[in-house]
Amino acid sequence: MPEQHSIFLISGTNRPASNTIRITREIERHYCEAGVAVELYSLESLPPELFVPAAYRQKPPAFVQIQEKVYAAAGLHLVVPEYNGSFPGALKYFIDMLKFPESFEHKPVAFVGVASGEWGGLRAVEQMQMVFGYRNAHIFPNRIFVNSVLSKMDSAGKLTDPDLNDRFAKQVRGFAEFAGLFVRKPRS
Ligand SMILES: Cc1cc2nc3c(=O)[nH]c(=O)nc-3n(C[C@H](O)[C@H](O)[C@H](O)COP(=O)(O)O)c2cc1C
Repeated sequence: MPEQHSIFLISGTNRPASNTIRITREIERHYCEAGVAVELYSLESLPPELFVPAAYRQKPPAFVQIQEKVYAAAGLHLVVPEYNGSFPGALKYFIDMLKFPESFEHKPVAFVGVASGEWGGLRAVEQMQMVFGYRNAHIFPNRIFVNSVLSKMDSAGKLTDPDLNDRFAKQVRGFAEFAGLFVRKPRS
């Protein structure tokens, strides 16, 4: 059954070993610490059968489950890398394969941008916001932009920037409340 009391956390690229999935795992950790149910979905897991023209008409069974999860989630948290001054094409294709037009109607959505460049995915997130705004999503105002992403992590992909870590904690807690979920108090 789809989980209606959880956040669906999306790593917005299918590029293997992306920095985006590393950042997404850090965000997942904050949801766990806040006692908020979360499901991480990486676009690397998109079924290859989705990438055929016939998929517009009939979705592969593995993707039907994902459609349901997106539709049922209390909120969507998107981690969006910047590719060529925008979001990845795979992320837009994923969106175009979801249930239409109901998937984002009044859906709480939070954004994190990721880039190796100095703007931290600002363009990618703002362009994505246009798509979600068009589909009547409720966009959480606290966005985070991770610039020079490699400088924020160690070689194992763990976050090394304490300020960024605090900002993720705040965004996660704020967004879970925005999405109507109970959030465990932070440890003192
Ligand atoms: C196809 C492609 C296009 C990219 N274009 C940009 C860009 O326009 N601006 C930028 O700052 N970084 C760009 N990058 C670098 C990514 O921001 C960088 O790889 C970062 O780690 C996030 O992407 P990743 O999750 O795939 O690792 C690009 C990377 C790829 C693969």
